[in-house]
Amino acid sequence: MPDTLTITDNRTGTTIDIPIENGAIRATAFEELRAPDTEHGLMLYDPAFMNTASCKSRITFIDGDRGILLYRGYPIEQLAEHSTYLETAYLLVHGELPTASQAEEWNREITHHTLIHENVKQFIDGFHHDAHPMGILVSTVGALSTFYPDATQIYDEAQRRISIYRLIAKMPTLAAFAYRHSLGLPYNYPDNDLSFPGNFLSMLFKMVELKYEPAPEIEHALDVLFILHADHEQNCSTNAMRSVGSSHPDPYTATAAAVAALYGPLHGGANEAVVRMIGRIGSIDRVPEFIEGVKAGKERLMGFGHRVYKNYDPRAKVIKQMADQVLGVTGTSAELDIARELEKIALEDEYFVSRKLYPNVDFYSGFIYRALGIPVDMFPVLFAIPRVSGWLSQWEESLLDKEQKIARPRQVYLGSARRDYVPLGSR
Ligand code: CMC
Repeated sequence: MPDTLTITDNRTGTTIDIPIENGAIRATAFEELRAPDTEHGLMLYDPAFMNTASCKSRITFIDGDRGILLYRGYPIEQLAEHSTYLETAYLLVHGELPTASQAEEWNREITHHTLIHENVKQFIDGFHHDAHPMGILVSTVGALSTFYPDATQIYDEAQRRISIYRLIAKMPTLAAFAYRHSLGLPYNYPDNDLSFPGNFLSMLFKMVELKYEPAPEIEHALDVLFILHADHEQNCSTNAMRSVGSSHPDPYTATAAAVAALYGPLHGGANEAVVRMIGRIGSIDRVPEFIEGVKAGKERLMGFGHRVYKNYDPRAKVIKQMADQVLGVTGTSAELDIARELEKIALEDEYFVSRKLYPNVDFYSGFIYRALGIPVDMFPVLFAIPRVSGWLSQWEESLLDKEQKIARPRQVYLGSARRDYVPLGSR
């Protein structure tokens, strides 16, 4: 059987055969279907890219029906169990796991780029004390481009490498400085002796002690959360990164656009909504009443359901197990008990079962962040820190893809036809 699609335009009787490649057809093939008196060929209308592939990618694979997530072919569960965030970031960027010497060089480069220019501190100081940390992150990441003008040479591989090191390394520093600013506390400089997550915890929480020593369980939990959030194929912020990157600005500017996209509550903010929802429920005995309200359409069970996963989100499985470990160190949480009860009831209820609604990545992550003492405002920032490695991998893949051009969608125009300007006095 030929791998083609045959389309007949009933307006004109024209028939075309379109090759099917990798389970997709090229939208431009439809251009030749043109009705008389129309100014352009047939277009595909797909708001929100519900069924349009915008790129070919070799980075992340998701099978939503079977609950599978692979980074460069490796299952997320195996990476969460055996890898570190820095190693996973290398994998995303380079396509292969590093050898021992490659890992050593990668870790050394990232560790040595964690400091930020002193001027950045000065403009963080200029933000109001209650400025949202994502607002500070968008601005400071974008501002980094002014410190590294050579980063505009995006087709110079050495420049791309150093920008990648700098961005992965400096995100935790910018995030921690934003947090310290909100509390009026002095900034903590990076500690290069610590691991990537350990250093971040030190920059967040070190007070007057000479050396901050993170609890190993907490450091590990944060590292796993970073692995789980590192990439998720063509989501909203990755699409922003690729789209802005397609006009060829430096990567700091494109990353600022991706952080901005992540800021929205439909993307990076659902874990915050889960924590607030649990707060409203208040106690385990009120869970059944809340579930009845959800089923009656009064509100949604936040942290449940996903556009792609119609099965248990594989990231949520790992996070749920980790929540027990973290809470074992930080002390039990009444909120987590309510969440567990919600999940138990929902997974047995026909309403949720028939709609294939399962916990997603956001259902349990907020409780871990809370247990670590991280305020709700910082949750999307915690998402942005590791996601930068996914954004940069996708950005570089896009730049090197000969089929990519500046992103420029078409539109279906429904406005006024041509008409003549009417002077103000005659309207
Ligand atoms: N609680 C109750 N009912 C729900 C929920 C929910 N969380 N999610 C979906 N439904 C129902 C929905 O009412 C609809 O029912 P019906 O067929 O009777 O009208 C059915 O399930 C299908 O829902 P949908 O809105 O068509 O599904 P979608 O794929 O457009 O929405 C979603 C996906 C994630 C926006 C949605 O499930 C939701 O709002 N979940 C809560 C918010 C949340 O947790 N978001 C985090 C997503 S994971 C983070 C990320 O990867 O960016």
